[in-house]
Amino acid sequence: MTLPAKVVMGWWRCSLALFFVVALATVHGGSVTYDGRSLIINGQHKILFSGSIHYPRSTPEMWPDLISKAKEGGLDGIESYVFWNLHEPKQGQFDFSGRRDLVRFIKEIQAQGLYATLRIGPFIESEWTYGGFPVWLHDVPGIVFRSDNEAFKYHMQRFTSKIVSMMKSAKLYASQGGPIILSQIENEYGMVEKAYHEGGPSYVRWAAEMAVGLQTGVPWIMCKQDDAPDPVINTCNGLECGKRFMGPNSPNKPALWTENWTFRYQTFGEEAQLRSVENIAYNVALFIIAKKGSYVNYYMYHGGTNFDRTASAFTLTSYYDPAPLDEYGLIRQPTWGHLKELHAAIKLCSEPLLYGTQNVISLGNLQNAYVFRGSSGKCAAFLENSAGQEARVIFHNVPYTLPPNSISILPDCKNVVFNTAKVSTQYNTRSMTPRVKFDSSAKWEVYKEAIPNFHDTSIRANKLLDQIGTAKDTSDYLWYTFRLNQNSPSLKSALSVYSHGHVVHAYINGVLVGSAHGTLKDPTFTMENNVNLRRGENSISLLSATVGLPDSGAYLERRDAGLRRVQVDGRDLSNYTWGYQVGLLGEKLQIFTPLGSSKVRWEKLRGSTQSLTWYKTTFDAPAGNNPVALNLGSMGKGEAWINGNSIGRYWVSFRTPKGTPSQTWYHVPGSFLKPTGNLLVLQEEESGNPLQISLDTISVTKACGYVLKSYLPPVTSWRVETRKYTKSQRGTPKLQLNCPANSTVSRILFASYGQPTGNCLSEYKTITRCHSPNSKAVVTKACLGKTRCSIGVRSKIFGADPCPNGQKALLVEVQCAS
Ligand SMILES: *[C@@H]1O[C@H](CO)[C@@H](O)[C@H](O)[C@H]1NC(C)=O
Ligand SMILES: *[C@@H]1O[C@H](CO)[C@@H](O)[C@H](O)[C@H]1NC(C)=O
Ligand SMILES: *[C@@H]1O[C@H](CO)[C@@H](O)[C@H](O)[C@H]1NC(C)=O
Repeated sequence: MTLPAKVVMGWWRCSLALFFVVALATVHGGSVTYDGRSLIINGQHKILFSGSIHYPRSTPEMWPDLISKAKEGGLDGIESYVFWNLHEPKQGQFDFSGRRDLVRFIKEIQAQGLYATLRIGPFIESEWTYGGFPVWLHDVPGIVFRSDNEAFKYHMQRFTSKIVSMMKSAKLYASQGGPIILSQIENEYGMVEKAYHEGGPSYVRWAAEMAVGLQTGVPWIMCKQDDAPDPVINTCNGLECGKRFMGPNSPNKPALWTENWTFRYQTFGEEAQLRSVENIAYNVALFIIAKKGSYVNYYMYHGGTNFDRTASAFTLTSYYDPAPLDEYGLIRQPTWGHLKELHAAIKLCSEPLLYGTQNVISLGNLQNAYVFRGSSGKCAAFLENSAGQEARVIFHNVPYTLPPNSISILPDCKNVVFNTAKVSTQYNTRSMTPRVKFDSSAKWEVYKEAIPNFHDTSIRANKLLDQIGTAKDTSDYLWYTFRLNQNSPSLKSALSVYSHGHVVHAYINGVLVGSAHGTLKDPTFTMENNVNLRRGENSISLLSATVGLPDSGAYLERRDAGLRRVQVDGRDLSNYTWGYQVGLLGEKLQIFTPLGSSKVRWEKLRGSTQSLTWYKTTFDAPAGNNPVALNLGSMGKGEAWINGNSIGRYWVSFRTPKGTPSQTWYHVPGSFLKPTGNLLVLQEEESGNPLQISLDTISVTKACGYVLKSYLPPVTSWRVETRKYTKSQRGTPKLQLNCPANSTVSRILFASYGQPTGNCLSEYKTITRCHSPNSKAVVTKACLGKTRCSIGVRSKIFGADPCPNGQKALLVEVQCAS
């Protein structure tokens, strides 16, 4: 709500769906069917909350903790795409090891009693290089991706069948007692279908039939596909789901929302665009009540890291860090906690929502009550205020105050247990602490990448080759080289290079003369430079780099990258004889691995840094269990490896409009590290200063809570099973603070019971005349030295009422330390 509407719309394109269900027992599975109201699991209708966690964007060592935090956050299930190009990098050679171990990931979900949704695609988009397609698919003769094309359909069916049979062999479908309750085929095809003319609808029919024919025993979904053939369920993606979803294409199909929402993914050169948790909660509640929604998936619940070169064009290495679980797997507050409360509040209303009748009563111009009455007389109400101002309404003869743009949830049609705009969860502050410095030049060694000239190259063509078809995703780099003979030296020749993306560095006779790059919105660019040419032969070497392959749009197989036109002094040299080299020598020798690093001669680091340089050092891991990241703020553009594991591309030099790098910290998962002697290799394409990088630990160091005396206690502490909401059980409002596991409250930074100014988001918090002098003592006694603490928000607890006629609150901020 704090963002312009256009930006908000942009976030909500389409995504996938994921389902999970909280297991009542450890036994899973059984039949999964559906009707017009919801999915039906073992005969029971369900309202399900699900969250996207993509297995290759974290490590197997992180999975159990991520899944358990998702479960604690009130999710019923986990959704993941399947990443074809990760599993079949070369045709017919499959890899399901390490981060690719899909079966292990699903089994971990099962072990924790959650449901799983498997979005096979196999086109996935997902800001993943080439939308998940292996690049070898590009070279299959006659292929047209995602269309009624025999070559494509053959490979799509082969891969889909392979994944389904792996799941079946491991007994992972709910029909076999496993956790998978839904599978997805294709992905947001409705967005490109028109471009394929009559080939579109016939492909959709084929895809649906092919998928259903695989007999998983659980339903299939297609997202953003209004004409999904029966029995495949069409699902909604996008901001409109709460307001504009046209609904399922049959009265017998449930309304499922497979959305984008916690954030919008970020690309290099862009500022982060945050979305408030109040806005997320409002839209989720609206979908449930106004669209009979029964399944909502958060995209992403944990975004994680785009390791290696897996990010799509221009996408940051860090993926959806502002999600409820941040990139490192730490709980992000208040996002995680506010949604947990929302899930619990909606679950309190399950019975009337699923089995009751709905009435919409107008309470004002922009205020409505959605009232659900179950057969047993149970009543649940949702009071919506879509106005930008607070509204006072009367519902069932009782007055209620509704905050702007919010929904209040009344599981008994009387008591408000939750309001989407009132965040009562604590706020956390994350901080980075430098633990290892790399400022001694004696500890670094460098290897200068050779600049190849025409004579060094083995691939020749009388034209400019497409980079995607030539490099085949084996490297980000393709050298374009040629010779130019000059009769006389020229001090100011005009070199013009037009590229389809994404970056170019021009070298003349081994000297860097210019660099340029495009952006996500416009990957094409022209570099114009005045250059010096000598008499006789000049070697011109143009290093073109892609920053991930495109991941979306119709006819992906036709997309290209790399140089398209090269001119010197107006002469078009595009059809000259060009020599090509795919990749860098250091990549070919894998000098970033402990074994490969001995294959070249490294030199001492001295003097100024030069372009296209490899840097190598070793370090000991910081003690403790906190997440670790490399602060690469002093570097330019390249890739980083720890013990041979790529932690992804960095691009610090591409600044946002505000002048800051889009990403400074690069996650190093704990499993990449050993206690001592870790090998760190940086491949720097521009210039950078390795002496100023650091290895930092990341932890939540502050917790802050703000509770009004009139607030209700958190809904999650209510007795959900018995659904009793009497005043006495609600008791005193409480302020609860949690420091991360293994850390405790080390200092009370601020405490005031009364009318403090500011809140958890304000930098300055101050006391006013209405302030209990015992505030700090009470909080110290309750919290100091503890991991969790809770303080009643009542005057009696603080000795006396500091201002008897005023509304009072408790505002506390504490320092956490391990
Ligand atoms: C929505 O999610 C999909 C992932 O399925 C992603 O490819 C797409 O870019 C996202 N759209 C937006 C606007 O975030
Ligand atoms: C280069 O060759 C292509 C294909 O033969 C031709 O279409 C194009 O006009 C040529 N460009 C120049 C500048 O000669
Ligand atoms: C907390 O400390 C214990 C004992 O030192 C350790 O086993 C555990 O992994 C730690 N937990 C976290 C979350 O750091």
